Amino acid sequence: MSMLTSSKAWRALVAHQEQMSSISIRELFAQDSHRFERFSLRFDDLLLDYSKQRVVGGTMTLLGALAKQSGLDHAIEAMFAGERINHSEGRPVLHIALRNRSGRPIEVDGLDVMPAVQRVLGQMRALSDDIREGRWIGHTGKTITDVVNIGIGGSDLGPAMVCRALHPYCDGPRTHFVSNVDGTHLSEVLANLDAERTLFVVVSKTFTTQETLANARSARAWLIAQLETMGSPSPSDERSPSPVARHFIAVSTNKEKVEAFGIDASTMMEFWDWVGGRYSLWSAVGFTIVCATGMDNFETLLDGAHEMDEHFRTTPFQDNLPVTLALLGIWNANFFGARSQAIIPYDQSLEYFSTYFQQGDMESNGKRVDRDGNVIDDYHTGPILWGEPGTNGQHAFFQLLHQGTQFVPVDFIAPARSHHPLGNHHELLLANFFAQSEALMCGKSTAQARDELLQHTPPLDSTRVNQLVPHKTFPGDRPSNSLLFEKLTPRSLGRLLALYEHKIFVQGIIWKINSFDQWGVELGKQLATVILRDLAGSGSKGSHDSSTNGLIAHYKSLRVTATTR
Ligand code: F6P
Repeated sequence: MSMLTSSKAWRALVAHQEQMSSISIRELFAQDSHRFERFSLRFDDLLLDYSKQRVVGGTMTLLGALAKQSGLDHAIEAMFAGERINHSEGRPVLHIALRNRSGRPIEVDGLDVMPAVQRVLGQMRALSDDIREGRWIGHTGKTITDVVNIGIGGSDLGPAMVCRALHPYCDGPRTHFVSNVDGTHLSEVLANLDAERTLFVVVSKTFTTQETLANARSARAWLIAQLETMGSPSPSDERSPSPVARHFIAVSTNKEKVEAFGIDASTMMEFWDWVGGRYSLWSAVGFTIVCATGMDNFETLLDGAHEMDEHFRTTPFQDNLPVTLALLGIWNANFFGARSQAIIPYDQSLEYFSTYFQQGDMESNGKRVDRDGNVIDDYHTGPILWGEPGTNGQHAFFQLLHQGTQFVPVDFIAPARSHHPLGNHHELLLANFFAQSEALMCGKSTAQARDELLQHTPPLDSTRVNQLVPHKTFPGDRPSNSLLFEKLTPRSLGRLLALYEHKIFVQGIIWKINSFDQWGVELGKQLATVILRDLAGSGSKGSHDSSTNGLIAHYKSLRVTATTR
């Protein structure tokens, strides 16, 4: 038995679960007319309603005791104090410093990191102003109309998600995102661009990521070829500076590799090894967002996140939104067997929100050994996180949420006001937002289903009614959280993102794992490097298992067939 599952707080929760599993959420509502008030939290206009979870006051007290027992308060302090809590990489975890608007110093080994953070923010402002206001001139003297972010994982998902979410605030150059090494991605984006007016922002913490470098090299080749066909001086021409300097900017921690690529180091925006890739949109990794929305909006995004940081750092656990969200997740996952968690935003602008947190959550908490290296074999860590905007999801996978055999807790997210108040569209959207959590919780009993069928016109015979009743019954009792706020703005988005980031942190502390490394992505990368060499060779006898050898051999035969056809 692990230290966690044998602990007092955990055992108390196991005993409590036995009592709670026999009470339905519907009954909990019937017993307590103040349930909504008792089980909802507010942070300014942001409301977290968790009354549709299977909890009573005692549940929250026991979950709070679990958080205390795990040393969460010290862990929060340690993160904010710049301690090296990412111990397997020997690094602090300081995305909170990137949006530290308090003026407080944050030290790593006695050195305040805030001056460097402020310097890069200043650089981002100056550079983005130049681009947005037409002072940044391309190789042939033209201004920039299109910015292409080349990166992958944390160097892509965050900026792409925020640019989409803040679309109403985007008044700068058009933005595009290329992440996949599949040549289709880059080719399709380049097909609509004018090389003279395009700026590539190559974003890579390491500047060694295979996909990003392949895309950046091909983009560079395209740029040079395009400019040459337009008759601009060739880069090999001594009189002409390289066009790369006017059309490529880098965001990285690796200056040497950036320079080796041919990008002017003076336009490289630095970030630091204490920023995890999936937590990096607050740094210069967010430069494409700044190009699109302007630095003032980006700083408001940082303000919103900082407000949530302060709430997280200073608020008692029982009133703390990220802590509450995390504890409810643990209650569902570890005590009621939920293996997945859906996030369903009722806002089309948040269409990449769940994908973004899929990396955020699954790369952070998809771990099977604890911080001391012990294999975890008697409790589950991070769930599968997924989702799509409502109402689209309702017509795709909600069937399973309502009547499937799997138990999937849902977070519903919605703004009360739309940026596009078109007729009654927003009322329709929000009516669905409210209806889905109600339907999941209340369900439809056999008796209700039977009554409805008996009202059917034309009347159904009793055999048909009996046949249909089980299909029309909804078990209900399926828990959800609802997050409702006024409007999707840079500030409210910043708060929301920081809320979910800290939720991940809290769960990682309780599960005793390191949420800030990602060794699990390495093996596939290593093998792909070996296989790439095999693909270049002509031999048909491979050195892998028979399945991999067989697949490679079949690929090679298809490649040959295709070229000879
Ligand atoms: O594949 C894992 C990963 O390291 C992510 O954590 C990261 O966000 C992504 O690759 C991109 O890495 P980089 O910014 O170094 O190119």
